Amino acid sequence: MKGIVLAGGSGTRLHPITIPVSKQLLPVGDKPMIYYPLSVLLLAGIRDILLIGKSIDLPHFRRLLGDGSHLGVEITYAAQDVPRGVAEALVIGADHIGAEPCALILGDNIFHGSVFSKLLRDEVAAVDGCTLFGYPVSDPERYGVGVLDEQGRLVSLEEKPLRPHSNRAVTGLYFYDADVVARAAALRPSARGELEITDLNQQYLADGRAKLIDLGRGYAWLDAGTPEALMQASQYVRTIEERQGVRIACLEETALRMGFIGADDCYRLGVEQSGSAYGRYVMEIARELGADS
Ligand code: DAU
Repeated sequence: MKGIVLAGGSGTRLHPITIPVSKQLLPVGDKPMIYYPLSVLLLAGIRDILLIGKSIDLPHFRRLLGDGSHLGVEITYAAQDVPRGVAEALVIGADHIGAEPCALILGDNIFHGSVFSKLLRDEVAAVDGCTLFGYPVSDPERYGVGVLDEQGRLVSLEEKPLRPHSNRAVTGLYFYDADVVARAAALRPSARGELEITDLNQQYLADGRAKLIDLGRGYAWLDAGTPEALMQASQYVRTIEERQGVRIACLEETALRMGFIGADDCYRLGVEQSGSAYGRYVMEIARELGADS
């Protein structure tokens, strides 16, 4: 399965912070925001990833992530200078996706939960149509909203409904089968001029080929689009990390645990960053998992 991280947009709700820097490069805890969605793709076993962002930001993403080879993955880049909708990522990424299934994740979505990796890998293996991930929220009108029937089947999807029929937000992680490129290419812009991801998902739903996995209790799903949400996300990450002594979305650790790189490679990546607690954590994990040093 191919992966896409969408990290464009103008981040206006975070101005002036996001005037000189992309939102998805801002810190959440002790790492850039983009690490969180990237780690989700890695955990899902996805190694061929396209990062889409504004042209002006791509050199910064590249400086941070390079071609991904240090993590045992391949990261390529494409530009979206005008935010014409989340689903446009699947148009921009058409060549990258080719005739394969694809996972799309929004660059400001942060997921955390136990056995997430197994859930992701099971759903990657099972994808048939589109797979969405739902999360209960107190303000569903701000999101795509899904309604399940008593058997857990997805029966409706709406984008930012004024009167939501459930409290289940559709998160910014989407798995699609190989039809997605053709379907995305046929989408028409909505009234606000965007290629809406919910329009695409509604098509799959109308064909009886959309499902929604309820994340619910046991998981955290945060977005980091406002100063308050950014602060809360950082606090959440720091609290868990300090209490448990583990790091969330440490890409080097994820790559090592997924078998994409070896322990010695991982250790070297830690040494390069040993001036920070993050780097020393990478070294420690690599040692625990078999590095010679
Ligand atoms: O976060 C989950 C929600 O994301 C879903 O529940 C909604 O169904 C979905 O439409 C989307 O809603 P948002 O209101 O969060 O979309 P927003 O336009 O804020 O874009 C989400 C992220 O994607 C944001 O970080 C900016 C980036 N983006 C967005 C658009 C429209 C792009 O990079 N390019 C774009 O063209």
